[in-house]
Amino acid sequence: MATTATSNILRRALLYVPGSSQRMLDKSRSLTADCVAYDLEDSVTPTKKAEARALIRNAIDQPQPSGVKERAVRINSVSSGLALADLTEVLQSPNLTTLVLPKVDTPSDLHFITDVITHTRTTAKPTHANPDPSTTLSRPITLIALVESAKSILNLPQICSAIPSDPSPSPSPFSPSSTSTPTTLSGLIFAAADFSRDLSITQTPSLSEFLYARSAITTAARAYNLPSTIDLVCTDFKNPAVLEEEALNGKRMGFNGKQCIHPSQVETVQGVFSPEEKEMEWAVRVVVADAKAAESGRGAWALDGLMIDVPVVERARGIVRRAELCGIDVAALRERFGGEEPQ
Ligand code: COA
Ligand code: MG
Repeated sequence: MATTATSNILRRALLYVPGSSQRMLDKSRSLTADCVAYDLEDSVTPTKKAEARALIRNAIDQPQPSGVKERAVRINSVSSGLALADLTEVLQSPNLTTLVLPKVDTPSDLHFITDVITHTRTTAKPTHANPDPSTTLSRPITLIALVESAKSILNLPQICSAIPSDPSPSPSPFSPSSTSTPTTLSGLIFAAADFSRDLSITQTPSLSEFLYARSAITTAARAYNLPSTIDLVCTDFKNPAVLEEEALNGKRMGFNGKQCIHPSQVETVQGVFSPEEKEMEWAVRVVVADAKAAESGRGAWALDGLMIDVPVVERARGIVRRAELCGIDVAALRERFGGEEPQ
């Protein structure tokens, strides 16, 4: 059975920035977002791919903007034939930590990417920008897979177990060599537009036509201990009420983040995927009272008339951990509820 994910990864909003737009690449430096994904795939026309690779490479070679926690690159799919050229450029950057992979239909898509990463790193030559590739390029790279076809949904168990998951509990036999850091799979993303095309689905505001696919994704991510489950894009980017409802719908289904296409969507999405105030208060009360219960040897106790035991306490700890990652002042809450006693 999978253990409870204890990850430091927080990707409430994943904002795509078209890689061919210098203006948007510049703009992304001034934004506040958990994860910015510079895009080489669908927002870049075929004739602009080479130019976009260079612009993105330049963007990730710059120091990390203070408001952005993670910078990723969405490359083109393995099946497009463009992934190798994308990787050849972006893997040269010592700052690259995360790749978003479109159209992951089979485990072999992930094997192709990990083989290219291993090869690039073992053959990297010193350059002016990166004089010591052996140390800078040994940093781990995490992958996030876009699930956007029927085939991908049916292959989820094989995809999720194709390479080690992130955080990887121990050195893995999948690791290409015992000395290198393994490339890990860190999450799944549901992509509604390509999925609808594949299945001839007509999307409605209820999103009910995606129920099976979205549930399959959150279930697989949990079963294989992948920290990120990132929901569909809300294309109605001028309508915050629609966005909020969609994000809440995703949260209720077990997603912990959502793709964004416009900076105006980020705050709403990050708000929805942060723990709610009442949730945090409950979690802190449980953690405080559980420490006292444990001291007196009680594994099961009550709070507000409801039984609390190990799984409930673990869920509460998870909420507290997430609140800390979201920058919420958990210490103040602990102080406020320091007198909580197990009943
Ligand atoms: N990343 C960074 N900056 C963005 C941005 C993004 N995704 N989307 C918009 N901006 C910037 C604009 O450049 C503009 O900046 P400025 O004030 O400095 O000129 C500002 O935010 C306001 O933009 P706005 O005029 O409201 O939007 P737009 O009409 O220029 O663009 C979209 C609308 C949808 C075309 C644009 O948001 C976009 O291309 N989004 C990403 C699409 C994408 O990546 N698709 C593939 C993944 S699904
Ligand atoms: Mg797509």
